[in-house]
Amino acid sequence: MKKVKLLTVALIAVLMAGMVACKTKTKEMITSEAFGTFDGKEVLLYTLTNKAGNVIKLTNYGAAIVQINVPDRNGVKENVTFGYDTFGGYAGGDLYFGKVVGQYANRIAKGKFTVDGVEYSLALNNGPNSLHGGPTGWHSRAWDAEVLKGTDYPAIRFTYNKPDMEEGFPGNLVAEVVYTWTDENEIIMDYKVTTDRNTVLNITNHAYFNLHGAGNGDILDHEALIRASSFTPVDSTLIPTGEIRPVEGTPFDFRTPHLIGERISMDYDQLVLGGGYDHNFVLDNVEPVDAEVYDPSTGRLLEVITDQPGVQLYTGNFLDGTQTGVGGKVYNYRSGFCLETQHFPDSPNQPAFPSVILTPEEPFLSSTVYRFSIR
Ligand code: BGC
Repeated sequence: MKKVKLLTVALIAVLMAGMVACKTKTKEMITSEAFGTFDGKEVLLYTLTNKAGNVIKLTNYGAAIVQINVPDRNGVKENVTFGYDTFGGYAGGDLYFGKVVGQYANRIAKGKFTVDGVEYSLALNNGPNSLHGGPTGWHSRAWDAEVLKGTDYPAIRFTYNKPDMEEGFPGNLVAEVVYTWTDENEIIMDYKVTTDRNTVLNITNHAYFNLHGAGNGDILDHEALIRASSFTPVDSTLIPTGEIRPVEGTPFDFRTPHLIGERISMDYDQLVLGGGYDHNFVLDNVEPVDAEVYDPSTGRLLEVITDQPGVQLYTGNFLDGTQTGVGGKVYNYRSGFCLETQHFPDSPNQPAFPSVILTPEEPFLSSTVYRFSIR
């Protein structure tokens, strides 16, 4: 009897030790702190540390990436993405830094589209067009957050329940993004979106990067490679004309590496219209890595892997130094680039583009990876 009791006690002790160890492990990998409140919801800042000792920070406000701290070739760690030190920074600052953008990332011409014969109208927040899901799109919402347990790497799920007709889009939607921070310095973003009636969807992450470290000069000396044989030219309001133009022989040919600044000032119609690169590339989707950007001076490399059909290369042409971010760094003209994996802009009005219709029958599932390393 005594022996059985002893064994039971020992077993309970072992189990409890295991639980404590588990708890400690999770705690070490993810910590959270108060960041602010929005719409009566708590906004937290999460710190995720991988086994390499590298740290990213996320917030449930806009399901945003706030910081990515990765080493250069000498082991010097620096934050390479745009974000703010405080929630106040987000409340009064740039709308999109690191955020998840929906219900329609990028532009919809004149804010109008039709689903099942019904025309819908959106707020015009970008000249004559609708941009990034409207003024109070998903970027401006406090998402629900859940730190995932029992995962190999630190991971958080952010969820936004979008009510029917919010910002003019039909459907009660449930949008989820799971961020995983692996020991190989990869941010994996797994998206899942469901709807209760037919609607349109285009979701992306709007992180800005500067591989020198955010706020340390411009990105014109970064070398970019994009595995895309064509792109979608735009009009003067940055709406695709419908043309799918081969990149061959144009400054949009990044199938071999080119410095971002090498051809950006060329007198080429699309660069003039875009004020630089602000275009959707039609990904070949044939190689595992769809795009990479390399900074020869620090050795930092960003690789982008996605199952989405397009990526928007945006070279920060509208940045103007009015935003001060993490560590007091100022974000000047062309001091950051974005690679927003996405469906093509204005697809609801472009029958030849891949469909962006989301139906109750088939959830939208998609993954994008930002992988950081040294070369
Ligand atoms: C667009 C830019 C826009 C920027 C706003 C990008 O996705 O393509 O034109 O200025 O978002 O942050």
